Amino acid sequence: MMLEVKDLAAAYSGIEALRGVSLKIEAGEMVALIGANGAGKSTLLNCLSGTVRPRGGSIRFEGKEIAGAKPHKVSRQGLLHVPEGRQILVELTIEENLLLGELARGGRPSNYGLKDVYKLFPILEERRLLKGGTLSGGQQQMLAIGRALMGGPRLLLLDEPSLGLSPLITDQVFSALQSLNAAGLTILLVEQNAHRALQATSRAYLLEHGEMAFEGRSADLINDEKVIAHYLGHLA
Ligand SMILES: Nc1ncnc2c1ncn2[C@@H]1O[C@H](COP(=O)(O)OP(=O)(O)OP(=O)(O)O)[C@@H](O)[C@H]1O
Ligand SMILES: [Mg+2]
Repeated sequence: MMLEVKDLAAAYSGIEALRGVSLKIEAGEMVALIGANGAGKSTLLNCLSGTVRPRGGSIRFEGKEIAGAKPHKVSRQGLLHVPEGRQILVELTIEENLLLGELARGGRPSNYGLKDVYKLFPILEERRLLKGGTLSGGQQQMLAIGRALMGGPRLLLLDEPSLGLSPLITDQVFSALQSLNAAGLTILLVEQNAHRALQATSRAYLLEHGEMAFEGRSADLINDEKVIAHYLGHLA
């Protein structure tokens, strides 16, 4: 098992954001985590990557307990997080942003280097000497993904990669994620765009008010009118 989360709880100054959350991801899977605004999706990813400290429960990553571990320790083990809003460094060049991503590796070998990132996103190579801030939103998302790849992920977490992107750019980002997964990378994808996320993944978890409301095969969920109407409403 690549990731095994059991009974996770999190709160912000006493207000519960996650309760009894459990989830499992096998090596090689691409899994969606969907849910409405404020359901706790980002909080769950942040607990996994160490930027939010859970108040209870367990997170086992490749057999090691990481709940409460510092973010740099977690990323050094190969759990890499592409945060919501991308957080690239606008004053550094694209290539410098990518090279910074290598720091997360902490000496582990990586199956991804600059060449691989440039092959996946040729636009980044074309613009490699320009500042990050000159990129469009979609290109910044590609850069954020590329930077995480440079950290040698064994598990890649993505928080709403399609946010604010045009359908065309969203297609490009999703097809890059699917080709990474086809080549063996394990991915946990958080999306508000439920339909897209379900199309791209084999399994999905649905978070509602901080609790897991449903888990199953994405293909089943996508066709389940009741689940979609009830849990996802207009988002579907
Ligand atoms: N830093 C914070 N301080 C206080 N409350 C927070 C903080 N971050 C999130 N929350 C609250 O925790 C709950 C879960 O938020 P979270 O951001 O995890 O949801 P989400 O599913 O990612 O939502 P969205 O789809 O809007 O990104 C919400 O009620 C939110 O208001
Ligand atoms: Mg969020």
